[in-house]
Amino acid sequence: MSGETGSLAGKRIVLGVTGGIAAYKSIEVCRRLVDLGAHVIPVLTDAALNMVGPTTFTALASEPPKTSLWKDSNPIPHTTMGQTCDAIVVAPATARIISDYRTGRSGDLLSATLIATEAPVILCPAMHTEMWAHPAVQDNIAVLTERGTIIVNPEPGRLAGGDIGHGRLAAPATIVDHVVDGLSTDALTGIGAVGSLQGRRIVVTAGGTREAIDPVRFIGNRSTGKQGLELAKVAHRRGAQVTLITTISSHSAEAPPEIDVVPVITAAEMEAAATDAAAGADVVIMAAAVADFRPAATADHKIKKGDGVPQVVLEPTNDILAGLGASKPAGQVLVGFAAETDDLIENAAGKLKRKNADFIVANDVSAPGVGFGHDTNAVTILGSDGSSVVVDLVSKTTIAAAVLDTVTNALSPSSSNPAIKQQ
Ligand code: CTP
Repeated sequence: MSGETGSLAGKRIVLGVTGGIAAYKSIEVCRRLVDLGAHVIPVLTDAALNMVGPTTFTALASEPPKTSLWKDSNPIPHTTMGQTCDAIVVAPATARIISDYRTGRSGDLLSATLIATEAPVILCPAMHTEMWAHPAVQDNIAVLTERGTIIVNPEPGRLAGGDIGHGRLAAPATIVDHVVDGLSTDALTGIGAVGSLQGRRIVVTAGGTREAIDPVRFIGNRSTGKQGLELAKVAHRRGAQVTLITTISSHSAEAPPEIDVVPVITAAEMEAAATDAAAGADVVIMAAAVADFRPAATADHKIKKGDGVPQVVLEPTNDILAGLGASKPAGQVLVGFAAETDDLIENAAGKLKRKNADFIVANDVSAPGVGFGHDTNAVTILGSDGSSVVVDLVSKTTIAAAVLDTVTNALSPSSSNPAIKQQ
């Protein structure tokens, strides 16, 4: 499940439901938000009532659904909700509500509530491909994005009437991740995470490199790339333009389509891609487990048993992080990881200095639930300024949020790298 148990405790969330065929999925969004501790107030439009029944929401939400500006004992339900809620999430959001919100039109309870709030607004569009691609809709989305609205983009898949295309509502888990992240605040500064990386370019490496011995065998490691993928996804949700350089082939499908996924296999390929992408980046995060050694020669045919036990001679690979540290442009924030089994802080502090990184995220991979393959992690984020942030065992999503909070605090308001353009 997305989010930590209780991560939305005490939060009042208005869940707007409009009349798309995907309205049935808003029931799952509602349940997940309630499971995370949120107080959920559903607001259904007239069209939504043609798709889903209010009784379901009465059973699952924190209070019965509101369906009209006029049926409430409170004469101003929209301003009361708008002023007291911590977020409004609209799932699904039709082209109509997107247009109303862009133009400030208050034709019904939901649109009135949207313009009566200063809380984060998360819109989850769902519609037919032609409608989603229409310049009017795209123009509305661009304006709302500019204003700070969080847009959870639709996905490709099956649409109403059996059509296949781009426009299907994002998965409820993805929507809830955006809500959790949209409401998270930096533990150190209290700054909200919404749009905190807008206009920034972030490069993340992920997975373990594989160094070929022959056409069928390689030297690899246990990295599954989960932490790198979460870093890329959270950075993307916070508005960054993300490049994910990864050895994990499933990342192309798992990452949101706006993330530029660069598939690589070897340390040398990762080095070339990372060096290239880092040139214009505000932030580079080396979460990959890069092989330190590779076979000095790769056999061009499968080594046969009958040939006898092969002697594989190894040679060192280049240290990518150290190379990036040596040529780091002013203003760029460089982050490395340190996977250790002994003397965690001492070893990580040594890497921080040797590789000229700004932060090292140190994890003790021998501890239960930490590091390779797990969905959880526990880290200490060491800074070159002597700072140290300890994050106890939590999901890799939350670790990613903590790392990106730290990075965001360290970024200068506008980078001095001429290749970096702030929006
Ligand atoms: N790293 C790298 N290139 C390498 C090896 C490591 O860029 N050839 C990066 C990793 O991506 C990570 C950091 O350096 O961000 C530390 O990696 P780690 O494997 O913990 O340390 P090493 O430098 O390889 O040292 P050791 O194996 O001795 O612990």
